[in-house]
Amino acid sequence: MMHYTISGEGKTVVLIHGFGEDSRIWNRQVEWMQKSFKVIVPDLPGTGRTPVSVELTMESMAAGIKQILDKEGIKKCTLLGHSMGGYISLAFAELFPALLEGLGLLHSSAFADNETKKEARRKSIDFISKHGAGPFLEASTPNLFTEKNRISMNEQIRELTERHLYMGPAALIAFYNAMIARPDRTEILKTAPFPVLFLIGREDQAILFSDSMQQVYLPELSYIYILDKSGHMGMLEEPLLFNKALFDFLSDLPA
Ligand code: MLT
Repeated sequence: MMHYTISGEGKTVVLIHGFGEDSRIWNRQVEWMQKSFKVIVPDLPGTGRTPVSVELTMESMAAGIKQILDKEGIKKCTLLGHSMGGYISLAFAELFPALLEGLGLLHSSAFADNETKKEARRKSIDFISKHGAGPFLEASTPNLFTEKNRISMNEQIRELTERHLYMGPAALIAFYNAMIARPDRTEILKTAPFPVLFLIGREDQAILFSDSMQQVYLPELSYIYILDKSGHMGMLEEPLLFNKALFDFLSDLPA
């Protein structure tokens, strides 16, 4: 079972972190969210205190989230997923639609990988196998930020990278294989009976702005926030706007 923290009272919100991160990426969100909501924050396999599993899929991780909800006796929730956390949320929406009250794609996408992206991931897997997870995270983390922020947030980016250096190659490779294998889930957006939040970084190199623009109109009810000065890491690059988007979305959920 995945390790998780649970805090606060109210409607349930699950915050799912992305690739190469752990639950601590949400520290600044948990702080305010737990005052009005019950907040669950899992560590995905191979991160935080959750043991690694080498055979991962978005569906298996979604089932892991369901296991947590069952253990806590929770029947309804809103999932907010950062990037790969969003891919997991979409798999959850497919498997357990009746449990969802809202879905947040934070720098995320319902598209499958195209061939170019798959090839890039295979190259990354090669690099990680040869050089280890640390050198990979050191090389790739700065690219998640805008060019400007890479300079102005240099210190913070270094700390963030160092915080993740405990991760092993098996975990990162398992995530990449799971991402390569995931299907397109735009149908989930088209048929979503719940509101969908899109939080988009204008300069995101991992989730292209143009890809996001092709998805925002698919759900019946979308909340769309564009962070003009962010890449892939709005929670750190523009934390106030990021938090405001989440707050507005959660406050609007039907009681
Ligand atoms: C993430 O942040 O979870 C990854 O960058 C997602 C991806 O590579 O598609």
